[in-house]
Amino acid sequence: MNSIDLTGTPVKHINHGVYVIGVGLGERQNAFTAAWVMQASFQPLLLAISINSTHYSFRLLQESGVCTVNVLGQDQYALAEHFGSAAPDKMAGFQWQQAETGAPVLSDSLAYFDCRVSHYADAGDHKIAVCQVLRAATLNPGRRPLLYSQTGDMDGSNALYEE
Ligand SMILES: Cc1cc2nc3c(=O)[nH]c(=O)nc-3n(C[C@H](O)[C@H](O)[C@H](O)COP(=O)(O)O)c2cc1C
Repeated sequence: MNSIDLTGTPVKHINHGVYVIGVGLGERQNAFTAAWVMQASFQPLLLAISINSTHYSFRLLQESGVCTVNVLGQDQYALAEHFGSAAPDKMAGFQWQQAETGAPVLSDSLAYFDCRVSHYADAGDHKIAVCQVLRAATLNPGRRPLLYSQTGDMDGSNALYEE
């Protein structure tokens, strides 16, 4: 595939929400920040999550086949940053509950979706996990969702699209 010059590309005008994806079961759980998440079907209700296959979380997702998508609010910038790092024991110090699939739910999120992976598709240096939503709930209503464009260079992607 030819590479293209993306200098000055305003790629963050393609907006997204910001989510904490809870992955894994039992003792082997983790959570990471993801913005590349979208609804992909009404019936069945499917979400598509683009995940870098080198992430530790990807291994846990593959092993367990389940995840939660937890919606962050605009007051949760620091959480987006925290779960957007590869630090060990990232889940410590936060309150979690267990979804019916067994995947971890961030209790302080606005809402969550409890999902089972349906299948994966290749997408360059990422994989698209197409996930069926089995249930969903609002946990903390009344807060506005955080947007990817509000996270600035938190994910370090500016270096890929230098001005
Ligand atoms: C705002 C933001 C958005 C991100 N979006 C994604 C994403 O959509 N997919 C992805 O694979 N990683 C994304 N990341 C990067 C991961 O959160 C990061 O690499 C994290 O360390 C992965 O967790 P792990 O190493 O514990 O598995 C994002 C990071 C930030 C800060």
